[in-house]
Amino acid sequence: MKEKLDLIKNAALKKIDDAVSTAELNDVRVKYLGKSGEISMIMRDMANVPKEERPAMGKLVNELRFAVEGALSEKTEFLARKEEELRLKEEEIDVTLPVKGRKIGTLHPLTLIKRELIDIFVGMGFSVDEGPEIESDLFNFQLLNIPKDHPSRDMQDTFYINENVVLRTQTSAMQARIMTTTKPPIRVVVPGKVYRSDDDASHSPIFNQFEGLAIDKHITMGDLQGCLQTFAEKIFSKDTKVRLRPSYFPFTEPSVEVDVTCSMCHGKGCRVCKGTGWVEILGAGIVNPAVLDMCGIDSKQYSGFAFGFGIDRIAMIKYGIPNIKLLYENDMRFLKQFN
Ligand code: DAH
Repeated sequence: MKEKLDLIKNAALKKIDDAVSTAELNDVRVKYLGKSGEISMIMRDMANVPKEERPAMGKLVNELRFAVEGALSEKTEFLARKEEELRLKEEEIDVTLPVKGRKIGTLHPLTLIKRELIDIFVGMGFSVDEGPEIESDLFNFQLLNIPKDHPSRDMQDTFYINENVVLRTQTSAMQARIMTTTKPPIRVVVPGKVYRSDDDASHSPIFNQFEGLAIDKHITMGDLQGCLQTFAEKIFSKDTKVRLRPSYFPFTEPSVEVDVTCSMCHGKGCRVCKGTGWVEILGAGIVNPAVLDMCGIDSKQYSGFAFGFGIDRIAMIKYGIPNIKLLYENDMRFLKQFN
């Protein structure tokens, strides 16, 4: 019997010695000490050993069990430590490696221009307002002297939501909203998105406008001209000249279109101004007395000027952007040039 126990012991110790993983060690534990493991079976068989031999046998078996258990736990601890070390090594990160710096965004060119414009007009005493992009036909057209069958509706390709609701085609809609709710004097600018069914290199179905409105006693075309001259000098450059050409808008009378000397070539003629030295930037005029009256402002007491232009167009002229689409595609290579 002793030889048998020695054989088992040697075999078990060799297996423990040879084991290279805690998983393998566990197999050894099951083989010898598990429920039906070899050592467990011998212990169970002790009942069949003659009584007088039992104490000596018991001692031998216990020694065997302790030897195997001891070797197992020692090796388990050793392997567990090794496995842990290996895992740590594998997961090691080199904290000295240079990082891929985080990208910081930049303000969109339209945001930059809008902020600059607001700054300029606030400096001249205007306040800033905003209004809804889904607008009623009443404010977008009718109160601006554009009744339902008016031919000038063809000037703007309108997205109708229904017969009486549109995506606003012009921030001028806010003129009507403000005049119907505010007592003069009024000095306000309104930046905002507008929509038209129009799509080419210089037209986008969505674009941004900037509206201005001043109503008071004795406002004249001279006030409009002075205001626009200051605006042009500040947004482009001090040497920018402004010229007013007669035009037509239903809500202003008289109406003008306003050109500035080209900020690219300073009036010499180039690609941007198509060789003329001038670029058209806005529509404006003296608020039509009919509009004042429709909006509840007495045209005998008050007069005013109004103007409206595309923020996109100002950005394109100022930065030399050839296609309006660039402003809406959000291509990082384009946007990061406006730091
Ligand atoms: N709303 C016009 C447009 O979108 C621009 C405009 C012209 C606005 C004359 C005005 C104005 O306030 O007085 O084409």
